[in-house]
Amino acid sequence: MKSSLRLAAFALASAASLSLFAQQNKPAKPTGPWMNTSLSPDERADLVMKQMTLDEKIALIHGEGMPTDDPVTSQNADSNRGVGYDIGVPRLGIPGIDMSDAAYGVRSSGVNGRYSTALPADVSAAASWDTDAAYQYGALIGRELRAQGFNMTLGGGVDITREPRNGRTFEYLGEDPILAGTLVAQLIQGTQSAHIIGDIKHYAFNDQESGRTSVNVNIDHRAAHESDLLAFEIGVEKGHPAAVMCSYNRVNGDYSCENKWLLTDVLKDDWKFPGFVLSDWGGTHSTEKASAAGLDNEEPGWFFYSDKYKEAVQAGRIPMSELDDHVHRILRSMFAAGVIDYPRQRSVVDPFSGFEISRKIEEGGIVLLKNEHNALPLDAGTIHSIAVIGAHSDVGMISGGGSAQVDPIGGNAISAPGKGATHWQEQIWFPTSPLKAIRKRAPNATVTFDPGIDPASAAAAAKNADVAIVFGYQWESEGMDLPSLALPKYKNGDTEVDQNAVIAAVAAANPHTVVVLETGSPVTMPWVSAPAAILEAWYGGSDGADALGNVLFGSVNPSGKLPNTFPLSDDDLPHPTLIKPTITHFSGPVSPETWAKGLPPFQVHYDEGVEVGYKWYDAQHKHVLFPFGYGLSYTTFGYSGLHVATSSNPDDTVKVTFTLANTGWRAGKEIAEVYAALPASAQEPPKRLVGFAKVDLAPKEKKQVTVEIERKYLSIWDEAKNEWSLVPGEYTILVGGSSDKLPLKETVSLR
Ligand code: BGC
Repeated sequence: MKSSLRLAAFALASAASLSLFAQQNKPAKPTGPWMNTSLSPDERADLVMKQMTLDEKIALIHGEGMPTDDPVTSQNADSNRGVGYDIGVPRLGIPGIDMSDAAYGVRSSGVNGRYSTALPADVSAAASWDTDAAYQYGALIGRELRAQGFNMTLGGGVDITREPRNGRTFEYLGEDPILAGTLVAQLIQGTQSAHIIGDIKHYAFNDQESGRTSVNVNIDHRAAHESDLLAFEIGVEKGHPAAVMCSYNRVNGDYSCENKWLLTDVLKDDWKFPGFVLSDWGGTHSTEKASAAGLDNEEPGWFFYSDKYKEAVQAGRIPMSELDDHVHRILRSMFAAGVIDYPRQRSVVDPFSGFEISRKIEEGGIVLLKNEHNALPLDAGTIHSIAVIGAHSDVGMISGGGSAQVDPIGGNAISAPGKGATHWQEQIWFPTSPLKAIRKRAPNATVTFDPGIDPASAAAAAKNADVAIVFGYQWESEGMDLPSLALPKYKNGDTEVDQNAVIAAVAAANPHTVVVLETGSPVTMPWVSAPAAILEAWYGGSDGADALGNVLFGSVNPSGKLPNTFPLSDDDLPHPTLIKPTITHFSGPVSPETWAKGLPPFQVHYDEGVEVGYKWYDAQHKHVLFPFGYGLSYTTFGYSGLHVATSSNPDDTVKVTFTLANTGWRAGKEIAEVYAALPASAQEPPKRLVGFAKVDLAPKEKKQVTVEIERKYLSIWDEAKNEWSLVPGEYTILVGGSSDKLPLKETVSLR
């Protein structure tokens, strides 16, 4: 799909001397009245626009191909060879917009012979529930984008986990809109602090990869606002991203990138988003319809938003004011993000600080799921032997694939050491070795490795050791969904490796078995009762092994909590079977004309509505394996003294105050979670997360904590009035350390 679009696009490109191109299109030094920094971004944009020709305006509303793997053309010669490039207004000194994917680090650095830090997967940052960590996550990406010569990120994924088998779950921030929205806002602010155009994506309901360019999602407006859209609303309102990427799928009949309800009514009118909307890569399907609906920028090429657009303007089918609005939004966002005042300039990335930030975020995101008889932390002084088993844990840790993929420095740990560049949907293992990290922390113990291919051999290795640490992994990537939440079986030569069988055999052989999971989505665990301890490490990033080592041996006390429910079985999901296209939509490349019409839709009905994640299991009274918000620590915490303060002023927050105590002898961080049960007349699921705080406590320390709850978070979406509305009545506020364990409770009356 992409390549045929690109080919069509490049057929239009003229061939001439590239160095001459680069010369011609290199922006002049920015001078002009718009360089007056005391003016607002909007005023500055207007001043530029006064001098722009129609052709210059059109040139700004589309991309110039995918410079990473497409030929250099007159228009993209000045780009940094990322995935997208808009030419800017070279004559007036307005620079190009140079885009890179950057979900958990800057993509394609290897191919450019440069370095980029891989942070832990976004879902790991979500598991930290740490707003400061989310800011640092974004800020590191922003700094490295700048250092590599880019000025726009394509990160900021926040589609909530409605379908946990979605192959991009690792790129997102969990199943709760308030948690995900709060964190993505911080991530965007962090990225934009480096004068990078920030992005939030994929707007909206891009909840599965199967048939993503044809699926039509059906959802009512109330459920839409209260679930998936709320994450974007918070992200836009608090993160102020300069850009929003509309998604590939259809929503209630229209493609997202030509969906007036999503782009204009909700995003631009209700949420007052002043920035620009760009299409996902090849996600534009029309000229007039998309433009009128609110799509400002076609990416990565110019099939609909170049000649066809100009013709439509000249023929009066698109009013000049509509084009001007798109151009204004792009320019004002460039001024607001600072990419004009602080031009792109390459510099050297600081890999050491990158490693440290990446490691710390992973340390905060690892979730301790089980710890019988304090099996963890391990005491290096008393352990004589450790068997490390499975998942290439001798050499590396798995990463998430697709457009999020970061090229590992040093190459793929299991297959191509030394090679920087990665390839689409290739499983990439970062060269961060848990085995070495464990050996380093237990220098006097015998630490053996078994590949975990044969259950009998793994069990024998485990039996001979004081402690067995067995790894299981689940690889995810854009462009595919997981067949199920079971730990996948995989091929090793001719042998099929059954990870569940290996883990069960190891745990049966050694009562002191620790299971370490490297997954993007929840997994089912038929062996859950057997091992002494279970850690969810997600995708650990560049320095994942050290983070894991620190948690295993207790120099870091785990503090992550699940941002996604782990169900008992796929059968418990709202859609036990993932809904896939039933017909073969196409085979081989799709012509631009076919693409323009859009592929035939298949329907997915979100009948579960607002009941996403824990709201579904609560409402349906289903037991789960590990609940949302759950995670253990090496210490214990106590909650007491709840007080909920309300005010009659509807602009005031509801203040929830309580005492949090570290009741153990080890310092630790606790994520305190605040939920609300709405009045019955609101007809909502039993409870929703409305706030949280991550609190650092010394041994035996107590702190008074206040979490302020916005009234919107206690409201429902009133479809008739098209606004948030607080249902008058009794609200029960619940506080505790997990969605299933909320010891504090107070009922207040709100109106
Ligand atoms: C993905 C986007 C990505 C874009 C550019 C698309 O296939 O859905 O998330 O930013 O490609 O690589």
